[in-house]
Amino acid sequence: MVRELAQDTAATHSSRTGAGCPAGAGAAGTFGQLLRAHRQRRGLSLSQLAARMHFNRGHLSRIETDKRLPSVSFAKACDRVLSGGRTFTTIALALEAAARQQQGWVQPAQLPAAKRHFVGRRGHFDRLDRLLHGHEQSLAVPVAVINGPPGVGKTALAVQWAHQAVSDGRFADGQLFVDLQGPEPGGAAAPYDVLADLLRAVGVPAERVPADLDQRAATFRSYLHGREVLLVLDNAADAQQIRPLLPGSAGCAVVVTSRSRLPGLMSLTDAVTLSLRELCRPEAALLIRSAIGGARADADPAAVAVLAERCGHLPLALVLAAERIVSHEHHSADALATELKQEHARLELAEGDVVLRDAFDASYQALDEQTARVFRLLGLLPGRLIDAAATAASAGVSQDEAARLLRSLAGAHLIRSQDERHYLMHDLLRAYAADLARRLDGNSAGGRVPARRAERNSRFVPARARVASGTGKPVPVNTGIR
Ligand SMILES: Nc1ncnc2c1ncn2[C@@H]1O[C@H](COP(=O)(O)OP(=O)(O)OP(=O)(O)O)[C@@H](O)[C@H]1O
Ligand SMILES: [Mg+2]
Repeated sequence: MVRELAQDTAATHSSRTGAGCPAGAGAAGTFGQLLRAHRQRRGLSLSQLAARMHFNRGHLSRIETDKRLPSVSFAKACDRVLSGGRTFTTIALALEAAARQQQGWVQPAQLPAAKRHFVGRRGHFDRLDRLLHGHEQSLAVPVAVINGPPGVGKTALAVQWAHQAVSDGRFADGQLFVDLQGPEPGGAAAPYDVLADLLRAVGVPAERVPADLDQRAATFRSYLHGREVLLVLDNAADAQQIRPLLPGSAGCAVVVTSRSRLPGLMSLTDAVTLSLRELCRPEAALLIRSAIGGARADADPAAVAVLAERCGHLPLALVLAAERIVSHEHHSADALATELKQEHARLELAEGDVVLRDAFDASYQALDEQTARVFRLLGLLPGRLIDAAATAASAGVSQDEAARLLRSLAGAHLIRSQDERHYLMHDLLRAYAADLARRLDGNSAGGRVPARRAERNSRFVPARARVASGTGKPVPVNTGIR
């Protein structure tokens, strides 16, 4: 949009001059829409406002209908008469800066590298294609939410699909990728900081990044207006965190990944959800084979299948197991499968600083005390199917309460719904829950136990605090949780 502003004469760019409006000022949209919303809220006609601002009525009308770019002095007059702050001025300054720097749009290409050995998920690729490419006629920004349990491959799918889309010629104006750090024990990234990063990534000079959250969001929408940009929001904590980051104009598309179902998102956007589960058997074996090489895998395909089974067909566990084999010249699939016969050993799968248990810890830490207790209990319940009655009996709560707690665990993807009454828990999560139960609820010798996330004063952690807290990886602690 801003590129055209500088190129076009003021009279020709029609709605493409739109500057997004602060979310707090009513419906998000263009500078003109914001102006109209403020004018109407004050009960002023165009002529009355023009008189108060000392501007020509026709000029005002053209700006309200986004046929003309507002000057900074015009925006100051808007602020003087309408907002009492710097709302309009800040947006006009950002637009002017952008227009001045015709080449100021820095085309972002922030996607992490695609996987060399990506397997499966064909159906999900097709759904994403339909959701995010089939919107040419719509004015809405398509939003796809990929959710599922820890390590199931949400980020990998988003990234792989995004690379495919780019190689098909989509999102020519750029791709933005942000880790929102939803499950991190240190806290989720604050939209305020994320917007600053996003604005800088598309070429807004640091000194032009507005100081206010709504204005940052509005400026971001303005920059994306009229462009084809893909925004990948990885590891979202909740809908509130995403809201200020959403582009306002069609042409852009958003892929969100989250361990949560993101309640409330539907009321914000027409988001469509894709829930991921572990890979199917052949895909899981293929993932191991691709990673360790055909020669090693084909030497003992039965062992590869057992290994995949013991990894619960969960991509993160499969990758860690495969890496273990690759990094030890004499380690075979059979030897590792035997080692992983012990459920406990599966949780300790680790390569470098990636540890399977840590991925689960982050989700567990986010649970409140009651839900965490029930989660641990579920690890000890006999049988695979979980229902409210058995949960209520073992947790000593009412069936209604048990049903509520189970819904909450399903919302965090720590169990999944099997039918109207029953839930299932992934084998690795069950082993994890049982392990925690033994450490915390039995009188075991102890060991590393994740502290659940304490109530925080602020839901989001500013960038400085995140940096200060270190790498953002789960922090091992040795305290109990009761
Ligand atoms: N379909 C796949 N093919 C090959 N590798 C995969 C696939 N899906 C995931 N992986 C690999 O499995 C590991 C875990 O995947 P990923 O990080 O995408 O999981 P996630 O669901 O985003 O986890 P988290 O909840 O922690 O964010 C990564 O190394 C990823 O590259
Ligand atoms: Mg992820």
